[in-house]
Amino acid sequence: MATGLVRRAITRVAALSPAARAFVYREHASEAAAQQLDPQAKPTSAPKTFQIYRWNPDTPQKPDLQNYEIDLKECGPMVLDALIKIKNEVDPTLTFRRSCREGICGSCAMNIDGRNGLACLTKITSGGPTMITPLPHMFVIKDLVVDMTNFYNQYKSIEPWLKRKSPPENPGKENLQTKEDRKKLDGMYECILCACCSTSCPSYWWNPESYLGPAALLHANRWIMDSRDEYTKERLDAINDEFKLYRCHTILNCAKACPKGLNPGMQIQNIKRLERTN
Ligand code: SF4
Ligand code: SF4
Ligand code: FES
Repeated sequence: MATGLVRRAITRVAALSPAARAFVYREHASEAAAQQLDPQAKPTSAPKTFQIYRWNPDTPQKPDLQNYEIDLKECGPMVLDALIKIKNEVDPTLTFRRSCREGICGSCAMNIDGRNGLACLTKITSGGPTMITPLPHMFVIKDLVVDMTNFYNQYKSIEPWLKRKSPPENPGKENLQTKEDRKKLDGMYECILCACCSTSCPSYWWNPESYLGPAALLHANRWIMDSRDEYTKERLDAINDEFKLYRCHTILNCAKACPKGLNPGMQIQNIKRLERTN
């Protein structure tokens, strides 16, 4: 097919008058010469600096920002592409988490130019340096890898699984729900547990042990709202606590930070509303 196109283009030029043909050749020749003589017109490289947080617990050095320059012409468009290029070609000691590279696993969450986000969904900007640091207010294990133990324990504490008191209506089969009831889980089931929201929440920064944070509370509401779950009252009682729930002051940093477009603050408001009638 490509050969056919080339052949058609050649045929068209050949069909022109000698004067017109000479004009076309002159234009092409001057374009090629311009590209060779004026590198400014068509840059052959696009250098970009990344300032990346480095800390290795096995060395005595304090944490520091290290500069890496890469050519964006030889790199994919996302921040994760740049990190992988640096690790593969410049510095294999650079440590970060990633897996799916398409916004599903949540493991590449980090702070990029002051905003929490997923490196695989964040485009590299042109211009000045881009600063990359670990998720804020988390204990750092190494470089961009943070300790998620407390975050996962808080998720576990809301018992994120279906709990029933009565035997299943159809033994050995799924517990069915209506389309309307299923729709009530929209805006919650999509959460990938990346922790961008919790680590952007000032209340979570100051009380990370006692406040459950937006991610765990979003999941608490996901099970509270599930029509098939029969422990709604117990779930509400378990988090009806000055610290676990009521440290949320509806600042809504969480909604701005969520790379999946979810609004944990709104789900927390729903829990508070249900607590008043529980
Ligand atoms: S709305 Fe609540 S959970 Fe979200 S950032 Fe504000 S205080 Fe944190
Ligand atoms: S609510 Fe959004 S930001 Fe928070 S953990 Fe889930 S996906 Fe990540
Ligand atoms: S690598 Fe999985 S979300 Fe970025």
